[in-house]
Amino acid sequence: MSKNSRLFKGTKLMNQTKTICVVGLGYIGLPTAALLANRGYQVHGVDVVQSTVDIINAGNIHIVEPELDIFVRSAVNSGNLKASLTPKESDVFIIAVPTPFHEGYVPNIDYVISATKAIAPYVKEGNIVILESTSPVGTTDKVEDVLKEEGVDTSKLFIAHCPERVLPGQIMRELVENDRIVGGTTPEATQKTVEFYNTFVSGEVLSTTARTAEMAKLTENSFRDTNIAFANELSILCDKFDIDVWELISLTNRHPRVNVLQPGAGVGGHCIAVDPWFIVHAGGDDAKIIRTAREINTYKTEWSIEKIKNAALKFENENGRKAKVACMGLAFKPDIDDLREAPALYIAKTLKAQGIEVLAVEPNIKNHKDLAILNYEDAIEKADVIAYLVGHKEFKGIKIFGKEVIDFCGVTN
Ligand SMILES: NC(=O)c1ccc[n+]([C@@H]2O[C@H](COP(=O)([O-])OP(=O)(O)OC[C@H]3O[C@@H](n4cnc5c(N)ncnc54)[C@H](O)[C@@H]3O)[C@@H](O)[C@H]2O)c1
Repeated sequence: MSKNSRLFKGTKLMNQTKTICVVGLGYIGLPTAALLANRGYQVHGVDVVQSTVDIINAGNIHIVEPELDIFVRSAVNSGNLKASLTPKESDVFIIAVPTPFHEGYVPNIDYVISATKAIAPYVKEGNIVILESTSPVGTTDKVEDVLKEEGVDTSKLFIAHCPERVLPGQIMRELVENDRIVGGTTPEATQKTVEFYNTFVSGEVLSTTARTAEMAKLTENSFRDTNIAFANELSILCDKFDIDVWELISLTNRHPRVNVLQPGAGVGGHCIAVDPWFIVHAGGDDAKIIRTAREINTYKTEWSIEKIKNAALKFENENGRKAKVACMGLAFKPDIDDLREAPALYIAKTLKAQGIEVLAVEPNIKNHKDLAILNYEDAIEKADVIAYLVGHKEFKGIKIFGKEVIDFCGVTN
């Protein structure tokens, strides 16, 4: 643990705040619960999945995140972290459940509502209730409404939103070091919640209202999405104009006030590809750029499929046999194993469904239920068309001769 010792420094529990109930033990809830338990809080973790509860109580983890295993083992061994299917009375409640969307990009806050109903019988006067899930504007007020409907006197509670902005792969460090935004449903709730985060966050904890905090998180992800859409649009235009988009971007970025992001095969993951829709759904026709950015990034994936299909068809016409296509990378971004909402996975599956022989490569996973996974040397050897979909480090510097290479992610540059 010595490497992490700085993450444990300066621990001072908040006055009269000793017990914490964390609802939802996934990528956000479990690291948060484990960190707080290592800081000396008594943490009761809650999840609806029995196997998750069992794995954690055995001191193990059910997700991939560097250093998390060390934190969970030490938290469970110290007796400060226990997991369960049901909440219990605590000083602070933290809700970190999923917020996906329904059909038609309609925000789905069902998990937040059911988590709120689950904690209602255990919430009492003076408690802090924090919503950490990325949420449509107004969800923290909704949490208050649900507690009221469940018979809780919310005037005696401190209810706030504190969105999470950690980077997977860096979660344990960023949970402590990132600046945080806290927005309460009242100024007192904001103040109390800021005080709580200041007991374990070394970054600055900034105060606002609940609605602004909700919108801030959605804005962060929409900003990324919009800027990537700009790069993706440029990549399509450059293809049309026969210009190397990577060279173009590196040249334009030499301007002191220009910073064009990198294009790719689309935008994936469960955050940037999802959260802007929360704004679009509520904003309607006024959310023009944010909606268009989402559409451009989705279109870039379809455009990439067409490019690959055209290359395969050209090969077939010239060689009298069907092309084998190597899909290099399936994850939603480089050097991770996360395939959620991944454009690359979608491309590989779509090509396969359309009768193309796909040689799927993903160095970060061993197997996949729909695609046989090959190592990249074998795939390149066998393929006629090589499509780089994700810029994994393994793909850098590979020299390929005499085959059609389509680079959607700049990994050959
Ligand atoms: N993962 C990230 O990098 C990240 C970053 C910033 C924000 N967020 C946001 O944080 C929230 C949680 O994301 P995550 O990645 O931790 O999700 P996740 O799917 O990894 O974990 C959520 C957990 O909640 C559990 N759960 C669902 N309903 C429940 C209920 N009613 N009671 C108790 N447990 C319940 C699930 O079983 C699961 O273990 C989402 O709103 C997400 O958008 C995630």
